[in-house]
Amino acid sequence: MEHHDLRHHGDVEASPGLVDLAVNVRRAARPPWLDAAIRETLDDLASYPDATAATGAVAARHGRPAGEVLLTAGAAQAFVLIAQALRPARAVVVHPQFTEPEAALRAAGHAVDRVVLAAADGFRLGPDAVPPDADLVIIGNPTNPTSVLHPAADLAALARPGRVLVVDEAFADTVPGEPDSLAGRRDLPGLVVLRSLTKTWGLAGLRIGYLLAAPDLVTRLAAVQPLWPVSTPALAAAAACATPEAVAAERDIAVALGHDRDHLIATLRTVDGVTIHGRPRGSFVLFRLAGADKARVALRERGYAVRRGDTFPGLGADWLRVAVRDRATTDGFVDALRRVLEG
Ligand SMILES: Cc1ncc(COP(=O)(O)O)c(C=O)c1O
Repeated sequence: MEHHDLRHHGDVEASPGLVDLAVNVRRAARPPWLDAAIRETLDDLASYPDATAATGAVAARHGRPAGEVLLTAGAAQAFVLIAQALRPARAVVVHPQFTEPEAALRAAGHAVDRVVLAAADGFRLGPDAVPPDADLVIIGNPTNPTSVLHPAADLAALARPGRVLVVDEAFADTVPGEPDSLAGRRDLPGLVVLRSLTKTWGLAGLRIGYLLAAPDLVTRLAAVQPLWPVSTPALAAAAACATPEAVAAERDIAVALGHDRDHLIATLRTVDGVTIHGRPRGSFVLFRLAGADKARVALRERGYAVRRGDTFPGLGADWLRVAVRDRATTDGFVDALRRVLEG
């Protein structure tokens, strides 16, 4: 099998002084109510964290009982819990996608089969793509790095008794109204939905996310979680971001993001040699460009950090991923790309 550095992530590419298009975390100032909620916890740091209130708030947000929610130190912790708690006979990861789930499975000693979606198909999931005997399936929606949003029905069709279906929805809140989220689905056997507060709310450093699943699965995953896994400030952020007002604000952010993404796509398409496969729906755009690996290095010299594509199974050296930013940043970036390609 071709070697991919599954533990490479965009944060390594974003160096001080460079415009960061490599990490898909929103850079706008956080709303005052969110920072206030986090700050208020500073007076209480002598006490151990209590996740009860935050768990209840997140459960209410998704219309589920509290026993179906497990708060985690970022969505990333959930991959480790899944890898440690489950004993799959056949684990399948649908690529190209965030590589950490496969890395966590391998680190826990599991063999992993890859289903690789094709660029020529717009990275869409075919009905027979996943082998029927897979008893653990991990897929992202919308998917990092392709930015493709799978229809909810296609993902729901993967659920079945005897299989754990993990849908990584770390970027679901970048789609207005989340029409294809499975977060509220309580009827699908073995479904685990992962969520993150990192991206939209600009909280990568706080480490806060959660998973939604049936109570028996939550119990199994919680059993391998370290003691006090989520800090008090992170719990406060989870509760603050679960209110109806926060969800409405999140939707507004996603709508604005969509306009900025349209601008990025339209501007990128004016560059000779750039091809975008599939319809980007998240907070980043993946594109193909012959010689992208060399362009990436030259872009750094011009002040822009972009995410390399060659560490993702199913992609290669001719792919780059860039975060959606404001129009001025996009225009500056695309201008720099054009100059790099003109040599
Ligand atoms: C698709 C995807 N899932 C999960 C994560 C992890 O997110 P968190 O910061 O919540 O651990 C990332 C981070 O880059 C991601 O891209």
